[in-house]
Amino acid sequence: MSRIIALTNQKGGVGKTTSAVNIAVSLAVSEEKTLLIDLDPQANATTGVSSLINGEDVNTIYDVLIRGTAIKDAIINTQFSHLDVITSNSDLVGAEVELVSLMAREFHLQKALESLKRKYKFILIDCPPSLGLLTVNALTTAHSIIIPIQAEYYALEGLGQLLNTIRLVQRNLNKKLKIEGVLLTMFDSRLNLSKQVAEEIKSYFGDKLFKTIIHRNVRLGEAPSFGKPALLYDANSVGARDYMDLVEELLDSGN
Ligand SMILES: Nc1ncnc2c1ncn2[C@@H]1O[C@H](COP(=O)(O)OP(=O)(O)OP(=O)(O)O)[C@@H](O)[C@H]1O
Ligand SMILES: [Mg+2]
Repeated sequence: MSRIIALTNQKGGVGKTTSAVNIAVSLAVSEEKTLLIDLDPQANATTGVSSLINGEDVNTIYDVLIRGTAIKDAIINTQFSHLDVITSNSDLVGAEVELVSLMAREFHLQKALESLKRKYKFILIDCPPSLGLLTVNALTTAHSIIIPIQAEYYALEGLGQLLNTIRLVQRNLNKKLKIEGVLLTMFDSRLNLSKQVAEEIKSYFGDKLFKTIIHRNVRLGEAPSFGKPALLYDANSVGARDYMDLVEELLDSGN
């Protein structure tokens, strides 16, 4: 059975995509068969792995969710034998509205993923920065959520809304859904602010905070413009190592 994990936070720019891409690649190099799904119309995860795939005119997650394209026809192999991806593009902007009028609109992704449960150990879903139907589809499908939080002022702002959405989904759509962990991102050890935010998040989430912290690292910011995950762009960078550590923690936590 796959372990389906959604990276979610309706706040923009907190490190969802960077985490989705780099966790997926770190899992793949750890020989865990992994599927990365880009569920964001901004298609940043797609860009972030673009050097790993050669596919033009491919089916995207939009085709799967709205046009009923078989999911197997949207899966793209990458140069990593253990990593496949399903891409996105700006068509997906429309899905948020188009889903509204469809039957069982919260369950389209879940239905689409049904046939893949034995094929992958991990399925990672990169969510858009909103709590709309795309994110609800991800939460309905997922076993767990990773919530990236940027180590900055107002880090906890909006989290109440996210936690409320998670509770609603648990109550009405997906009883199994749990919080895999809260991930502190862009941590700058030179800044007192970063440390204060870390303390605040620790006291708010306790054990749910991953022990691994993702440091602010220039390489992580640069890598996407080359279409590469950090491990390929600079395997010795702090960013690449942080995400390998995180994956080790994730694998240790079992399931
Ligand atoms: N640890 C890091 N160190 C340095 N830069 C980072 C780090 N993590 C992310 N970034 C950069 O910060 C920006 C936002 O990160 P990212 O795109 O992963 O956030 P996001 O939550 O997916 O954003 P959105 O809500 O728009 O989808 C990007 O330019 C990314 O390259
Ligand atoms: Mg993103």
